[in-house]
Amino acid sequence: MGARRVNAPARERLLCALDALPDGGARGMLREGLDDRLCVVRQGDDVFVWLNDCPHEHRPMEYRQDRFLSGDGQHIVCYAHSAHFDIRTGRCFAGPCTGQSLVKVPARVVNGEVWIPAELPSVFDL
Ligand code: FES
Repeated sequence: MGARRVNAPARERLLCALDALPDGGARGMLREGLDDRLCVVRQGDDVFVWLNDCPHEHRPMEYRQDRFLSGDGQHIVCYAHSAHFDIRTGRCFAGPCTGQSLVKVPARVVNGEVWIPAELPSVFDL
């Protein structure tokens, strides 16, 4: 059994290294079956993590793996019916679920590593 990492809070888990995320881009993470549970967006040293669950019809949002963002990289887009979400707030500002929000997964960047809660929030917690 390996030693517990010094900077690993008990109720968090390591998601990935910050460098594993393209700056200005997005990645799907925590694959389950054919879908990634998370949409992870990096902007510089900031990382925004959302459940990959569109509030419109509770579907994954990307049109193919890791393709969550608009062409200019400024918004998250659900490609099923073109809902547009603010990357920082998760709020839908255009599309069929305008005014609704993605479910945030609080993330911390510590020493070049991205940490998230050990237990993910649920869309049913809303
Ligand atoms: S399922 Fe996302 S916009 Fe319809």
